[in-house]
Amino acid sequence: MPREPLEAILLVGGKGTRLRPLTLSAPKPLLPTAGVPFLAHQLTRAAECGISHVVLATSYRAEMFAEAFGDGSSFGLSIDYMYEEEPLGTGGGIRNASSRLKGGPEDPVVILNGDILSGHDLPAQVDLHRKRDAAVTLHLVEVDDPSRYGCVPTDGDGRVTAFLEKTPDPVTNRINAGCYVFKRSVIDAIPAGEVVSVERETFPGIIEAGELIMGYDESAYWLDVGTPEAFVRGSADVVLGHMPSPALAGEPGESLVLAGASVAEGAQVSGGTVVGAGSVVETGATVHGSVLFDDARIREGAVVTDSIIGRGAVIEGGAVIEGAVIGDRASIGSGNEVARGLRIWPDVRLEPTSVRFSADV
Ligand code: GDD
Ligand code: MG
Repeated sequence: MPREPLEAILLVGGKGTRLRPLTLSAPKPLLPTAGVPFLAHQLTRAAECGISHVVLATSYRAEMFAEAFGDGSSFGLSIDYMYEEEPLGTGGGIRNASSRLKGGPEDPVVILNGDILSGHDLPAQVDLHRKRDAAVTLHLVEVDDPSRYGCVPTDGDGRVTAFLEKTPDPVTNRINAGCYVFKRSVIDAIPAGEVVSVERETFPGIIEAGELIMGYDESAYWLDVGTPEAFVRGSADVVLGHMPSPALAGEPGESLVLAGASVAEGAQVSGGTVVGAGSVVETGATVHGSVLFDDARIREGAVVTDSIIGRGAVIEGGAVIEGAVIGDRASIGSGNEVARGLRIWPDVRLEPTSVRFSADV
């Protein structure tokens, strides 16, 4: 049965601080992920789920979004761009972007955090929202460490009873998955032109006022890619097919080698690794579960695992990179071991050495 066209707001104004130095030159939602800008995965899924009009709520590096996605027609979408000169927070950003919405006060509006990979059934979430005539319906998932997220307890009927953003004392493992359905009139009630947090102000306020916020529980694939570890995992999961994405060019597999990249015979590239355009993996090099941005070079005998290698970076033979971020154009000399959690800033040169760089020292 054809569904009514839906509208969405995508929140993409954050600075992506936890992904520095990668986000110094591009905002988090535009980082190359399985061969395309991250947001392309969300936009193609949105279009598949019946969304026809998207407003991007931008602030940091705003101009780069329109350059990447234009009017949205290549996704079968119509995309508008709204800008916050000073970031207005999640609630303020939603309110600012809402001036471009076309629907009426009772219509549902889908809001998406711009750093989420989710395989959940969005139309089913919208159906629940409509059926219960809720003010807001939140997608909820269970995680091991809820203190890093919005903790969301519900009653037996699925009604949200509290919203506790990044609380040190979570009362449940169920958290806000960053995909909301709002009744349009609820967005219009957010004060305009002010910094507002939807998590810390709007949701608790709605609950306080006795209006209905519903939880939509579904434990499909879900990941917030806001840290380097999560970002590489998300990219690899798309390449491997663990997170099905219509934006993936080609079939899922052990690696994605983009046009203009080269992987020598005798090199091992596996675990969902992406080899960016112009990048070279020389014979005898091993790359597992990693993302190589464009024009990187992994020399003979280097070992790269679970890492992000920036544009134009060079990893010399004998270097070992594990769970690390190597900034654009950095060069890691032979013998260096760059351990889990380390970030090497752009243009840094690590000379050949026998010293071990570790996150513990
Ligand atoms: N337009 C705009 N303006 N967007 C913003 C702003 C702003 O001032 N601040 C943040 N955003 C966008 C970010 O770009 C991102 O897409 C989204 O809002 C969420 O921000 P994050 O910085 O990624 O938040 P988080 O991951 O710590 O927490 C949020 O997501 C969790 C799920 O992954 C919260 O919504 C939590 O409650 C939730 O559990
Ligand atoms: Mg996030």
